[in-house]
Amino acid sequence: MNARSFMGNTVHRGFSRNRYCVIFLFISLHFTYGDVSYSVAEEMKRGSVIGNIAKDLGIGIATLSSRKARIDTDRNDKRYCDINLSTGDLIVTDRIDREGLCGKKATCVIKEELVLENPLELHRISVHVQDINDNAPQFSEDMISFEITESAAKGARFLLTEAHDLDIGTNTVQRYNLQNNDHFTININTEGSGRKHSELVLVKELDREQEKELKFVLTAVDGGSPQRSGTAIIHVTVLDANDNAPVFSQVVYKASLPENSPVDTVVVTVSATDADEGPNGDITYNFDHATDEQVCLFSLDQKTGEIKVKGSIDYETQTSIELRIRAKDGPGLTSYCTVTIDITDVNDNAPAISLKALTNPIPENVSPGTEVGIINVRTDSEITEGPLLHSANDSL
Ligand SMILES: *[C@@H]1O[C@H](CO)[C@@H](O)[C@H](O)[C@H]1NC(C)=O
Repeated sequence: MNARSFMGNTVHRGFSRNRYCVIFLFISLHFTYGDVSYSVAEEMKRGSVIGNIAKDLGIGIATLSSRKARIDTDRNDKRYCDINLSTGDLIVTDRIDREGLCGKKATCVIKEELVLENPLELHRISVHVQDINDNAPQFSEDMISFEITESAAKGARFLLTEAHDLDIGTNTVQRYNLQNNDHFTININTEGSGRKHSELVLVKELDREQEKELKFVLTAVDGGSPQRSGTAIIHVTVLDANDNAPVFSQVVYKASLPENSPVDTVVVTVSATDADEGPNGDITYNFDHATDEQVCLFSLDQKTGEIKVKGSIDYETQTSIELRIRAKDGPGLTSYCTVTIDITDVNDNAPAISLKALTNPIPENVSPGTEVGIINVRTDSEITEGPLLHSANDSL
């Protein structure tokens, strides 16, 4: 009696008789029948042949029908395979998706049984499902955003989110590529577990005043064939650092102001700009080391830089005034400019006329053009001196 028919008989006779037999049955089943094992790639078309199970178990084709051969699942699992009774082929009957069945497990096995009746005979079938590269690496977000201050030092590192690939082994993410750009390279670290994660490395300092934001493409590539990849955009917002001082539009501002100009006359407006943003670029203007007198004569708008007359400007006191103005940004970077104000004279003093010399007496027939004297007209500010000439029409 061979093991198979012995087992079959046992099952036949002893199924419900006593416990010993049932225990014997399971032990015997396990040891008596050689399992058959197949390997199949996931996602094979329905009807694809996995192997010829009749041949592999040495069962004749005729026997399959006569003993009502069928495929059963281990428990109540879904059935993925069936047997073609006219060929003995084990065929795919349903979609086998390795990721759906086994997720990230390294091995994925579907267990089914070939059942024959008269006598009852069971053969375990293990179908090892092989991964195919049917999934591409994927980033959880399309855009990976960073905010990096422009003062970040060369060599600074910024961890990137991993890309995921539902496949396993070499069909998962193998490397990352970064689109060429001036500021960042990519560094890949491989953990003990083989997981790879990547970080951006700053290789050239950022300058917000040159570039406020950067965008480049990160690509994750798997090792399958055909190779698949997934991309995400890296978006870097460059945050401002106070790396710029205010800059005046002119180093020296020249203005000319008639003396006695009324209060609130605008003399000149100084203007500085600061390339930084927010408080880093907020400018206030102030006099720098102004004399008490200057402060009495002029006002300066801290926000607009407008310089106005505040006191009474007198040419006779001073003909030129020089002011130093300081521009300061929020955190305190400063720069300076000079304002030169030329005071122009207005006729606010009665001239004093003096006759310097007079040739005496003047004959009445003196010819026109003869110098007869010098008139000195003097105001507080200037001396006009010229020859007094006789003309025919003059009457002295
Ligand atoms: C079994 O295989 C034969 C020969 O390949 C084929 O003609 C037949 O359609 C198959 N039967 C089933 C149920 O798939």
